[in-house]
Amino acid sequence: MCGIVGYIGKSKATPFLVEGLKALEYRGYDSAGVAVYDQTIELVKTKGRLKDLESCLDGSQLNGTMGIGHTRWATHGEPSYCNAHPHMNTRTDIAIVHNGIIENYLELKEELEAKGYQFVSETDTETVVHLIEETLKEHENFFTAVLTAAKRLKGSYGLGVISHKNPDQIIAIRKDSPLVIGLGEHENFLASDIPAILKYTRNVYFLEDGEAAILTKDSVKIYDLDEKELKKEVFTVTWDIDAAEKSGYDHFMMKEIFEQPKVIKDTLNGRLSQDSEEVILDQIKIDKDVLEKINKIYIVACGTAYYAGMIGKELIEKIARVPVVAEVASEFRYKDPILDENTLMIVVSQSGETADTLAALRMAKQAGARVMAIVNVVGSTISREAHDILYTSAGPEIAVASTKAYSSQLIAMYLLSIRMGRILGKIDDAEFTELKTAILKLPEQVQNILDRSQEIKALADKHLGMKNIFYIGRGLDYATSLEGALKIKEVAYLHAESYQAGELKHGPIALIEKGSVLMGLLGQESLMEKTISNIKEVKARGADVIAIALEGNTMAKHVADDVFMVPKTHWMLTTLLINIPQQLFAYYISCGLGHDVDKPRNLAKSVTVE
Ligand code: AGP
Repeated sequence: MCGIVGYIGKSKATPFLVEGLKALEYRGYDSAGVAVYDQTIELVKTKGRLKDLESCLDGSQLNGTMGIGHTRWATHGEPSYCNAHPHMNTRTDIAIVHNGIIENYLELKEELEAKGYQFVSETDTETVVHLIEETLKEHENFFTAVLTAAKRLKGSYGLGVISHKNPDQIIAIRKDSPLVIGLGEHENFLASDIPAILKYTRNVYFLEDGEAAILTKDSVKIYDLDEKELKKEVFTVTWDIDAAEKSGYDHFMMKEIFEQPKVIKDTLNGRLSQDSEEVILDQIKIDKDVLEKINKIYIVACGTAYYAGMIGKELIEKIARVPVVAEVASEFRYKDPILDENTLMIVVSQSGETADTLAALRMAKQAGARVMAIVNVVGSTISREAHDILYTSAGPEIAVASTKAYSSQLIAMYLLSIRMGRILGKIDDAEFTELKTAILKLPEQVQNILDRSQEIKALADKHLGMKNIFYIGRGLDYATSLEGALKIKEVAYLHAESYQAGELKHGPIALIEKGSVLMGLLGQESLMEKTISNIKEVKARGADVIAIALEGNTMAKHVADDVFMVPKTHWMLTTLLINIPQQLFAYYISCGLGHDVDKPRNLAKSVTVE
């Protein structure tokens, strides 16, 4: 989720570019830069925070009145000067900023290198600026050249493009990654999100997919990709800055819960699509020889990431038939574990900086084990120290309570277990096709649940007075129930306990009394009847039961007080869907209790100390 800004008009561009990027700071980033036209295109960029860019700009004479700027949330290539945007062509007469993922950049890069283009970065974006230069050889009109080049791109992009030969215009073009155009008096603005321009204008055009714009000092014209001019309604923004940063949601946690359909698509991007024959995990260099030497797999993480690890354990063990142990990092590192060159360690971490998880990684490497990391933050310490890396493309997760990052970790676990199963010949083509079809349906199934979020709010309102809550599940549902309980603890400050459903009768059921609240997860159909029996046991003792079940389940409504149905899918994948209502339930309880749901007391987003 990068930040894009552009300015063309009566004033100096640089102050707007910097202020606009600051307003997008909440999106998280690891490098930043500006390109301003002032007789030539002047480029100033740096790794690090925005204040580092401001230091670079101090004393610079960037007096131009047209320019673009960018804050980068790395997806391809570590945070560095070379990888920072804006990117320029070799002749330095074109500059570009980009938000999104160009799926076919490697193929385009090879084609352009064969034509003699020199690349200086690892980014997918740099491919686009060279492609525009190449396309200019056939299309003298710059706008036509940009549109023609864009038609060759696969994936998602929000682009801002400027050229030395066309200093009176900024070109913007959108596919999947949002772009908004602010309309001023003898000045116009471009941004990837509203907060960047709210200080200057509330009148905007929202670019839709497949639309492009030419911004000049006194005009904004919108076109389709065939250069047919389009008529657009001006939208007047009524949000304040704070609401705009959350895209109109009340809190980052809710915004991130609702981003999950896109996050799933982004995490699948380039790895699994309708016409895939295999799962592509290009940064995982594990093949049959390596896997066959592995006699033990540890999955090590903390908190929510550990619950994703528990699910990964079940899936890899069931599919790859290799023993897998899921361990909490803070325990693992002190138990003198058995590690050697035949061990594979998989660490899971959203931040890539969690101290205990990093310590476990270093122990494993020291013992000669191979380490793979499932991480969200590109260039984080864990991602740099692992042998293999599988990035989750969740974008910056601002709320302390993890939601979209957890779902993207589950997607990573699905992809990894399938990949391992295919390498070891445990998943045949028919099952691969079944799994692929089911995984590709997940974004719309998550959206189906989100569309019914008010049903969950009603359940939360009904139970707002509860003093504690029990969660139960069997098999994969147990790991999911642990995540549900953690969410309630984190954001509602309520005691929440998760149990393997079969364990209740071994003691915990003594806690059940009239009015106890219990969340029963029924996502594993093979174990569903057993869990139903456990729900009956607690109902008989006066508990108030909420069941989360798969569509078509006819038993749940007979035993639970309230049932929330999620779409049916492959047994491996129900873990992701069953968890969405848990996220919403915790969110609504927290809000109902008046807590700071994004920044819960006592917690930090990344636990970089032991
Ligand atoms: C999740 O809601 C919590 N914020 C916490 O458990 C978190 O998952 C844990 O600290 C691990 O963080 P990491 O994924 O950044 O390593």
